[in-house]
Formats: sequence, C-alpha cells, structure tokens
Amino acid sequence: MLVYNVPTALFRIFNKEDYKEAVSYINSIGYPVVIKANGIAAGKGVVIAYNRSDAEEAIDNCFLKDLFGDAGNTVVIEEFMEGKEVSIFAFSDGVYYLLLPPAQDHKRIADGDMGKNTGGMGAYAPVPFIGKEETAEIENEIIKPVLKAMRELGCPFIGCLYAGLMMTEEGPKVVEFNCRFGDPETQVILPLMQGDFTELLYSAAKGRIQKELLFYNGGSSVSVVAASGGYPDKYEKGFEITGLDNQSEKVIINHAGTKEKDGKIITDGGRVLNVTSVLKNNDLIEAKKIAYTALSKIFFEKIYFRKDISDKAWQ
Ligand code: GLY
Repeated sequence: MLVYNVPTALFRIFNKEDYKEAVSYINSIGYPVVIKANGIAAGKGVVIAYNRSDAEEAIDNCFLKDLFGDAGNTVVIEEFMEGKEVSIFAFSDGVYYLLLPPAQDHKRIADGDMGKNTGGMGAYAPVPFIGKEETAEIENEIIKPVLKAMRELGCPFIGCLYAGLMMTEEGPKVVEFNCRFGDPETQVILPLMQGDFTELLYSAAKGRIQKELLFYNGGSSVSVVAASGGYPDKYEKGFEITGLDNQSEKVIINHAGTKEKDGKIITDGGRVLNVTSVLKNNDLIEAKKIAYTALSKIFFEKIYFRKDISDKAWQ
C-alpha cells in the first residue's frame, strides 16, 4: 500500500529483537494506537491501546510472554483510524472488476458497538453513506491501484477482493483485505444480486469477467445473528431451536451453528443463525423491522442478539 499509494493507517513494524525500540516508539506517539500481532491469532491479536501502559502490555504479550507464539514475533503499531467502517467486495479477473453494493458489519458483541469482538453480529446493505462520490473514491484510490499492484507484482488477483475500509475525514482508508467473501456481509449482499452468479465467477476465472451477468436489484437487506449466550467466550450447545418455520417470504434463515438431532434443530455453535430480511426496494428501516419480527418468533435457551443492527446506517 505504501509503494502504490493506497491510503491506509500510518504504521511501523517491529520484530522481537526490536523490543526496546518498540517500547521507546510507544513513548513518543499519541493515543489511541492499534497494536497488532502480525500473524494469525484467532481474532485476539489486535489491541486498541488508549494509553502507554496498555500499549506496553500488548507488546509484552507478544514479545516477552509469547502469548501468540510465532504469530507475535512481529508487531505492527498502527495509527488509530476514526470513521465509519464499510465492507467493499470486488469480483475481479485480475484486470476488470465488478463492484457489489457496500455492506456494513457489526463486529462487537453488544449494542452501540460495545464489548468484545466477534465473527460478526449482523450486517446490512446497501450502505446509505456510500454514495456515487464515495464509490468513485474507493474505486480510484483503493480497488484499481490494488488490482494494478497485484498485476505488476506478478500475482494478478482473480476472485473476490474484500476491502475492509474506514471512511475517515480524509477519505476511505484500508483497514484490511481478505481474498474471500465476508460473513455476515454475504448474507445481505447476495440476495440483492440478480443474474447468473456462477456464470459471473466462471467468466472471471476464465480470464474476462462478464460484468453484465450480475447486477444489484435496488433492494435492501438486514441480517441479525442469533448467538448462544456467553459467545464470544464460553457458551453452551444443544438447545432446541423453535420458530424457524412459517416465516415471511421476505426472510431467509441461514444456519451457521446448528445441527439436526432426533428430528429437531439444535444449537451447535456460538453464532447459531442469521435471520435475514430481503426487500425488493431500498428501505432499511422496513428491512430492520422484518428481520427483528422474524427473530422474535425464534427461540432457544440463552438466545442472544444485538438489537441495533443497521442503526449505524443513520449515525
Ligand atoms: N465480516 C468480517 C469478515 O468476514 O472477515
């Protein structure tokens, strides 16, 4: 991103042997700051440090206490970005691409984006604060240069590029990239796409994406995750789920952590179901109502869900 001028947070990288330098760096910067174990750490390797002592603890956890094993041998210390987060998906054949409608995830466990990080507690699409102007900025400053960079580096990106972005006062900046679709964003984006999805993927894989095979139908969607109480920490499994049948035709129930036992559907994971409303028109307020009405008919012991999925659209 630095080389290709793709906007992202300012950052410094430190290896274990640079421990002293990392500590002296955190003495010289402003807060909050983001401290990341460079490797894969089951979603627990990122700390937002609000003061020097939090920052030092995060560095110690990686370099001195080896809490993340090899994943903590390198640490990235990054500027904290303020703004609204948005997930952008581009299907690409390496050169050309199709941008899908933007979605917004809700990663924290509690309403108002409070509490621990999770795998995602809900999402909605499209995102009203991403208009034509923002979309153009995202394409020109992030998607196009990244695809160009990947080509020039000899590894053209063919597939679904997931750009997690922060819409800051200075414009969109990259938080992360994934080379896959997002969860729970997929649940709200795919139902809004009309056309032949597999043919689109096939055309991209074969070398020239046929963008006209898939288009946004103008609708809207809200998906709320019904989780097991206790998630993302310890939770129980094995509770019968009722109320799945006889739902509105505007509702899709995606099973995530469930299984069938003796003819019953029971809970079998932390994130149990996604209850997703799908409207043909762009009305997120109505879509929210429909999703929560559907959810109110569903029950299992210790069910937990956020009550504010999609409210961020207006905040
Ligand atoms: N929605 C976050 C992810 O799929 O990584």
